[in-house]
Order: sequence, then C-alpha cells, then structure tokens
Amino acid sequence: MKEKITSSEQAIALENKYGAHNYHPLPVVLSKGEGALVWDVEGKQYYDFLSAYSAVNQGHCHPKIVEALKQQAEMITLTSRAFYNDCLGMYEQYVTGYFGYDKVLPMNTGAEADETALKLARRWGVVKKGIPNDEVKIICCEGNFHGRTITIVSMSNDPDSYANYGPLTPGFIRIPYNDVAALEKVLNEQGDKIAGFIVEPIQGEAGVYVPDDGYLKKTYDLCKANNVLFIADEVQTGIARTGKMLACDYENVTPDILILGKALSGGVLPVSAVLANDDIMLCIKPGEHGSTFGGFPLACKVAIAALEVVVEENLMEKARVHGNIFRNYMNNIKSDMISLVRGKGLLNAIIIKPKNGKEAWDVCLKMKELGVLAKPTHGDIIRFAPPLVITEGQLLDACQRIEEAIVSFQ
Ligand SMILES: Cc1ncc(COP(=O)(O)O)c(C=O)c1O
Repeated sequence: MKEKITSSEQAIALENKYGAHNYHPLPVVLSKGEGALVWDVEGKQYYDFLSAYSAVNQGHCHPKIVEALKQQAEMITLTSRAFYNDCLGMYEQYVTGYFGYDKVLPMNTGAEADETALKLARRWGVVKKGIPNDEVKIICCEGNFHGRTITIVSMSNDPDSYANYGPLTPGFIRIPYNDVAALEKVLNEQGDKIAGFIVEPIQGEAGVYVPDDGYLKKTYDLCKANNVLFIADEVQTGIARTGKMLACDYENVTPDILILGKALSGGVLPVSAVLANDDIMLCIKPGEHGSTFGGFPLACKVAIAALEVVVEENLMEKARVHGNIFRNYMNNIKSDMISLVRGKGLLNAIIIKPKNGKEAWDVCLKMKELGVLAKPTHGDIIRFAPPLVITEGQLLDACQRIEEAIVSFQ
C-alpha cells in the first residue's frame, strides 16, 4: 500500500473490487467532516443529511469528543473485562445517572446491544417470570429493524434481511406496528409465555414511521398489566435525535430495557449500551455474556464526552426547533413528487412519487450534485437526518438545495 486516494473513481473501484458487495452507496467518496458538513476527496463540500444513520448527532469530528479520544488513546485503549479499568466504573455511574437506571451493560454495535437485550429479556422470563426455557417468546413489530445478526433478522419481515440465511431463531411473535389491539390480543392469548415486547419508538430504517400519539404509553401499560418487559430500541431515535433525549420521553414512558448505540459515541467509536434496573440486569451473572471490547476505556471516555455535548449544546431543543422548520419547508415545496413529509425532531422522511421514470434514487443523485447527501430507504422514501448541530442558516441553505433538486424533475 503506497499511494493516497486522490479521486473518487479510484476509491470506488477499490471498494468494488476488494470489499463485499453488501451495500449500495451513493457515488460520493468522503474524506473529511466537520459539524454538519463533509467533503469529498475532490474537495467538494456537502451537507450530511444522513449523519451515519443518526450516529453523528453531535456533528462530525466534534472537538470535545475527539479530544477525549486522543487523551485516553495515549493512556490505555483496551483492557478487556478480565481486569478492571479506571474508566468503566465512572462511565457506568455517569450513563446510568444520565438515563435513570440502576445498571448498564456496555457493548459496541447496535445489533450487539439488541442481542443483549433479547438475551436479558429471555433470561428474566425464565428465572423471574418462570416461563419454561424452551417456551419463552418475545413480541416484535412488522417493519422492525434491529440489526443484522441471525437472531435479529429472525424478527424481520423484510426478505432482504432474512431470506436464504438458513434456519432462523424461533421464539418471536410479530405483530403489526402501531396497533395496540394486536398487542393486547397476543398478550391475552399467550401472555404467560411472553418475556418482552421490543419496539422502535419511531421505525427509522423502515422509512421513519411515526406511530400515533399514545401508542408507546398504551403498549407500555399493556406490558405492565401482563408482567411483560417493555424493551425500547432507541439506537436510532435516542440521544436527542427526535427532539427529546429519548423518543419515549414524549409519552413519559420509561422502558424496562433501554437499548442505545450510534450517537452514544457521537460517531467516533462503536459504543452501545443496554440499560435496566437491578431486578432485570442482575439476571445475567459473571461469564454468561460479554464482549472483548464492551466497556473499553477509550469507549468510556468518548461516550461521556459525547453525552456531555448533547446537554451542553442543547441538542434536544435544536432538533425540535430545526425539525419543525425542516418539515414546514418541505411541506411548502410545490412538487407533485412529494407525496408525504413525516418525522419528529430531526428524524424525517419524504415519500417520493416517481415522475417521468425518476425515483428517490435520482432525487438523491441530484441533491448530491447540489451539495446535500441523503439516501433512499426502502425504495421511494428519503430519510433526512442531519447532525443536530446544524445551524438554522445551514438548514435553510440545505432546504433550498433539496427543493431545487426535487423541482428539477418537474
Ligand atoms: C433501531 C436500530 N436498532 C439497531 C440498529 C443496528 O445498529 P448497528 O448497525 O450499529 O448494529 C439500527 C441501525 O440502523 C437501528 O436503526
């Protein structure tokens, strides 16, 4: 390996030749980021309206988070959980106080945290609720996205996620999303075998589906009435993205198990977490679960800095105010290609009605040309989720460019 990448073409060719073809990226090669902005290898500037799927809520290369990374990198990076380290306990105290739980189980990726939550709920179901081991069930929702492991894709009804990966993991009951009656029915019929209900407060990957007001509270109450754990996957919605610290906060719901990832590190390292109180968390005992990197010193320092930034920079308020501006702007664009604008805070989507053979993908290519990066999710839905540090001026500038891209197909 000698040369530096100097052109987008070169980088794309290398990825195509040597990398697995498990993604279909927009043809842009990024080499630098700062706040809401990114630059490609040719030096062209863009607004990042994906934020690495909401991992970069605090903005690219946030100086405080990067400084925490540098300082800790010079001390010690990884110790494994075979020994104690002088960062983990402090982080655990900080993050549990921040979100209001007794304990945290640190992991790395969102999928790992989801897996951990499923294991924890099943374990609780067996040892606390008394469900026979082979009969424990978890309820999940149609349209869910919780990650990519075999067990997690076993919950999915998207063939791209689960098809042709061999036998799936049993023990899930899938019900329609945003359907309280469907949950009630399953709980009435099989509640004694059910350990948990796992739900995204807004379905991000499915296309930013926002459930009806009251859905989270009603489903939470049903879970309580049936001695079933309410498990919230806030990997994408959490950490100020939707205008509150957690999307569940809109309905004053405190999940029994809370799953976080992505912005927990501000996009600097893979850091995820499962939070729960002692009666649930202590069902897992030493040696029964873990990860080499889970809770490593570098992650602990980075996560504390990332969470501090959210409060210090008032990112919840920014997401709320700027989200309203964004949706208003989009709703006023005169184009019959926009069939719906939806979202909460700065997690939004536009549904594109294809016109003259032009689809959401073409709109994204045009936006790229005009300096805004976003990507379709599930065909005709474009998700818009800029870093929460985006200024009002930047947001309006980006909105104008998005408008220009869409109306260019009229
Ligand atoms: C709600 C939700 N859960 C879990 C995940 C998986 O996270 P990761 O890609 O870090 O494994 C994602 C990723 O987009 C997500 O949106």
